[in-house]
Parts: sequence; C-alpha cells; structure tokens
Amino acid sequence: MNVPIQKPEFGTKTGKYQWVHDSIVNVCTGEKDLIANLANATAILKENFDWWWTGFYLVKENELVLGPFQGPVACTRIAYGRGVCGSSWQQKKSMLVPDVHAFPGHIACSAASNSELVVPVLRNGEVLAVLDADSEHFSHFDATDQQELEKICAYLATLF
Ligand code: SME
Repeated sequence: MNVPIQKPEFGTKTGKYQWVHDSIVNVCTGEKDLIANLANATAILKENFDWWWTGFYLVKENELVLGPFQGPVACTRIAYGRGVCGSSWQQKKSMLVPDVHAFPGHIACSAASNSELVVPVLRNGEVLAVLDADSEHFSHFDATDQQELEKICAYLATLF
C-alpha cells in the first residue's frame, strides 16, 4: 500500500482520474480482502470528488446488496432491473442520468440526489457489482466521468 500523501495539481479532470485510478491500484495491491479494497476505493473517490454519495452494490443471490460506501444511509437491497442500479445490472452498461426525477423507477435513497452515474463492474460479461455515484446537482456527471469510472471498475473487477 502506497498512497501519495501530497495530492498533485490536476490540470484536467482526466488527469485527476488518472491519479485517483493509480491511488486505488496502489492501495489495493497486495490486499486480497474485497470489502477492504472497495472501502478504500470509495474513500479515495470521496476524498477527490464532491459527490453526495458514492459506493458499491454487490450482486448476491440475485439481488444487489449494499456494500462499502461514503455518504448518508442508503437502501440495502435493490432488485434486478429496478432503479438506476438494477437497470445498469440488467443492461450490463453504465447509466448516466442527468435528472434522476425523469428516470422511470429511480429509487430515491435520498431526496437530495438529482443526478447519478452507475457503472457496472463486469468480468467475462458478468456483472459482479455496480458503482453508484450521486450528486445533489443536476447534470453533474459527464462522458469523462463515465469513461474514467469504467476504467476504475475494470481494474476493480480483477479483485473479485
Ligand atoms: N438511486 C439508486 C439507488 C441507490 S442510492 O441512490 C444510493 C437507484 O435508482 O438505483
């Protein structure tokens, strides 16, 4: 484990994500406990982005079950195909939602959340978990967030 203490100046959002990605790889390298690794990954995301809520739901016995997260209390279980998280699991793709109130079936764990990005953790075409990021701002997430979180989730899939 080797997380740099001094954060560099980030020229671009992509540069910041590169540093976040490398920090997650550093902290997880050599540690085989999945929950510990996902907990540190959420902490690194929380430290670097001003999101309202971020965390993982793990696929367990045909449901999504709440895993490590940072933020307010959230719903514990989400069914296949339900809400933004369950839809990401079902469709095996990221869901970029600029206005959650316009998303049919959105599950409002917090009334403060207005936009959301959910990225599946995929290995060999199977969804192992989803990473959920919520913001109190509308249209907070963009294609860069999606692309970069997909890279992070591709790495995290190797830890399951
Ligand atoms: N909004 C999500 C539920 C999870 S919470 O936001 C933490 C959804 O619709 O799946």
